[in-house]
Amino acid sequence: MGERVQGKVAVVTGGACGIGAGAVRLFVEEGASVVIADLNIEVGQALADELGDRAQFIQTDVTREEDVAAAVDLAVSSFGRLDCIINNAGIIGAVGSIRDISVEAWDKTTSILMRGVFLGMKHAARVMMPQKSGCILSLTSTAGVAGGLGPHVYTAAKHGVVGLTKSVGSELAKHGIRVNAVAPGNIVTVMTSALITGDPNNEEVAGELIAAISPLGFSGYPIDVANALLYLASDEARYVTGHTLVVDAGQTTSGEPGEMFHQQEADIIGAAGKRGL
Ligand code: NAI
Repeated sequence: MGERVQGKVAVVTGGACGIGAGAVRLFVEEGASVVIADLNIEVGQALADELGDRAQFIQTDVTREEDVAAAVDLAVSSFGRLDCIINNAGIIGAVGSIRDISVEAWDKTTSILMRGVFLGMKHAARVMMPQKSGCILSLTSTAGVAGGLGPHVYTAAKHGVVGLTKSVGSELAKHGIRVNAVAPGNIVTVMTSALITGDPNNEEVAGELIAAISPLGFSGYPIDVANALLYLASDEARYVTGHTLVVDAGQTTSGEPGEMFHQQEADIIGAAGKRGL
């Protein structure tokens, strides 16, 4: 138990599973109170029950403005303020060749990955601007800083998150609000397991495959991203805004060829018979 975010209040979208759940657990351990805002009632409520008085769950679809507003309002009504939002909810979304992506798949993917982040920033700012303090964090990806590391729509949306982080950071700095992003690469969760192995529940094999291509020689886990989020949310990062912190074992700096992802994607789509990863 530490005190790096002692007394702070956070909302974590997509906080029921994976990286979001890792952040929820670490923030509570380090003294924060947290609202878990996720679509998944069963897993999200169970996590809140396990963590006790300093965690609350609210069913949230980040594509719906009223849901995101309600999650932010719950933080204020339950815990008295809002110091941090982590816009983390995400999906892989549309996969495959640019020739085959439908407008519907484009819209559905971007509604979660971009509209969801926009709504989190908007409603956090509503509370944080009068308070004159706060920290907005969003999950982008290595696919948000380079091409060839993820599906096309995902890559476009995650680049958008980096841009929105810089833009909103430049507006909100004068209000005492810092806006940053974290760009993970190849973290073992159900999302990467589905993408890499074709099976969301095959995290063990996903971990082995990720370790095999990791420049550092081991795979990353939600705690590795949660530690980066904790730093950015803490007062240790008081001079940091508009920044995207890459957490990827050096994947983007050691020149992994983009073609590798698209070949892997084609193989998985072939093996899965396009059953909607
Ligand atoms: P995950 O699939 O393990 O967890 C995602 C969570 O988001 C789930 O709890 C799910 O119920 C929730 N969610 C999905 N759609 C939602 C919606 N419309 N409204 C509210 N909640 C929703 O995913 P993971 O791997 O933990 O990813 C979290 C974030 O990190 C995502 O934004 C992802 O793009 C990003 N990321 C993950 C990487 C990885 O290697 N796992 C790499 C780069 C980025």
